[in-house]
Amino acid sequence: MYSTEKSILQEIHSDELKDRNTRLYLKRDDLIDEEVSGNKWRKLKMNIEQLKSQKKDGLLTFGGAFSNHLLATASSCHKAGIQSIGMVRGQELSENSNETLKRCAELGMKLVFISREEYNLRNDKEYWKELAEEYTNYYIVPEGGANFYGLIGCQDIIREVNVEFDSVFVAQGTTATSCGILVGLGEEKNLHVVPVLKGFDSKKEMRNLLNFSFFDEEFTEQLIEKVIVLDEYHFGGYASYTEELIEFIQAFHRIHGIPLDHVYTGKAMFALFSELKKGNLDNKSVLFIHTGGLQGVKFLEKKEGIRLW
Ligand SMILES: Cc1ncc(COP(=O)(O)O)c(C=O)c1O
Repeated sequence: MYSTEKSILQEIHSDELKDRNTRLYLKRDDLIDEEVSGNKWRKLKMNIEQLKSQKKDGLLTFGGAFSNHLLATASSCHKAGIQSIGMVRGQELSENSNETLKRCAELGMKLVFISREEYNLRNDKEYWKELAEEYTNYYIVPEGGANFYGLIGCQDIIREVNVEFDSVFVAQGTTATSCGILVGLGEEKNLHVVPVLKGFDSKKEMRNLLNFSFFDEEFTEQLIEKVIVLDEYHFGGYASYTEELIEFIQAFHRIHGIPLDHVYTGKAMFALFSELKKGNLDNKSVLFIHTGGLQGVKFLEKKEGIRLW
């Protein structure tokens, strides 16, 4: 439905990179589609195939008020002629609360606004059973597309890369993208993950998802050894930001012409350049995965008057 050929590999150059003898390639998954952008199609593709093969009527999933995943689900289901339901965190919200929710509704997604308490049950087996009874014949996908099929779909990001590299950098939320990359990574390479949530235990969460996705404990541990967690770049927590981060994203766009967002990719790129300055990437070839998320920037402009690019 969406062509991943649009996701080009782009090398960027700067004096800082040259001085450190570091090569930096960006995998531009943000170019796949405006709404089903970045890692979103990677995580949804096989889930939609599963839904079709199980002959389900629609797809039900979960997300917050500005969720990239909800919008991508609404948009891809609309294109595939599949019904979709979004369970949205926040009883106080409505489809007119913001541009993301408005667009989801426009694309035909049925939005169900639930309390934070109910939302906290989003991964609970009993809760899923109740949902399955209420929304009969719906295929349920966890928040952020973080299941086995989501993870496996993300392996393709690495398969499409045809240059040599030593390290990968990627922003982390549910860990599905980073786990998929890790499974497809290959020998003697490492993966830098940049969790965007404060106090997030990256390795624990990755172990859980890998074990849940049928990878045995020994293999999981071999994979986890390749992970370097950079957990000091959350800028206060999910969707929080500072002036320094905003200025970094603005300067990056001015210099390289590449847009980043303030929730995921801006933080991951900031982490990369900080590690570069510390000398931790000297003589390395680095691959940065641009996971999209650019739709969320509209909110910053509209509500806060901050223009990133
Ligand atoms: C733009 C963007 N980048 C990165 C991530 C993190 O991916 P994951 O949740 O698979 O760890 C997300 C969330 O799905 C996202 O929307």
